[in-house]
Amino acid sequence: MSFKLGIFESIPDSFLKNLQEVVETVDLVGKEVYLIENEVDEMDGVLIKSTIRVNEDFLNVYKNLRVVIRAGTGLDNIDLDLLARRGVRLISAPAANAESTAEFVLLQILCLTRNMFQAIESVRSRNFNRDVLMGVDLQTQTIGIIGFGNVGQILARKLNLFGVNVLCSDHDLSKREVAEKCGATFYEQLGDLLELSDVISLNASLNEFSRDLLGPGEFAQMKRGVKIVNSARASLINNRALLEALESGIVASCAVDVLDPEPPFYNPLEMTQYAHTLLDHPAVFVTPHIGASTEQAQNKIGREIVAALTAYLGKQSK
Ligand code: MLT
Repeated sequence: MSFKLGIFESIPDSFLKNLQEVVETVDLVGKEVYLIENEVDEMDGVLIKSTIRVNEDFLNVYKNLRVVIRAGTGLDNIDLDLLARRGVRLISAPAANAESTAEFVLLQILCLTRNMFQAIESVRSRNFNRDVLMGVDLQTQTIGIIGFGNVGQILARKLNLFGVNVLCSDHDLSKREVAEKCGATFYEQLGDLLELSDVISLNASLNEFSRDLLGPGEFAQMKRGVKIVNSARASLINNRALLEALESGIVASCAVDVLDPEPPFYNPLEMTQYAHTLLDHPAVFVTPHIGASTEQAQNKIGREIVAALTAYLGKQSK
């Protein structure tokens, strides 16, 4: 069966080669989705990550889509009800990058608690004053994980090895049992976790209930000087409230791997034009959504996606 798959985001060569053994691929990386003129009607599937929104407008252009491949975990950029209504199959790799993301969050936490970002910037400008770079031992810290899915659970286990007092919270109260197994204390009330945490890591998925999960009221409940890590989705935090909390000293520093809107990953001109209030804030350290950027995570995603696509095509041809 012939199947044309538009690839909108970059993937490892081995993943691409394996895909090409089962489908025909069209390279659309970095292309403006609504300006692609040829082949749009012929596209049977698209492969995306987090930058492209699959909504009504998108499906009205890519009318004949049968499959949307999300090469990763988060589904907040995809209208799932719409896909279901139109009979478009979703293929994703929900847990394939959890280990790499948890490891990255650990790195962000360590960088904040040891002032690593500031230290590097300071030395680059030939300032070697280490007195202002005093950090804290992780084993003295209470770290609150908001959202206790795959990433949150792996993170909790890793933090335990550092002797951290790990707290967690999730809208799904059945996570209490899992939390115990991961060595984390579960808090039904988010406010309790906010009051106790020295560092807060967001690891929830973004949906209509979790948007702006941290707003002015939540920042007001936090310890003064708290550090915030966000490798999940930017819109979990109300940006204006975060800026105010930084201004007032409630938040001491912040490491974010995710911005809203996502920055342009493929176009150098658009990169230079991209603006965001967090980018130049002296206490905010931004990375370009690299939590899942390890060879192992990307290869695992590739294996899971190719297996699922092959199974789907096999069923269709019967
Ligand atoms: C994910 O949701 O899988 C990660 O945020 C990485 C990505 O967007 O691909």
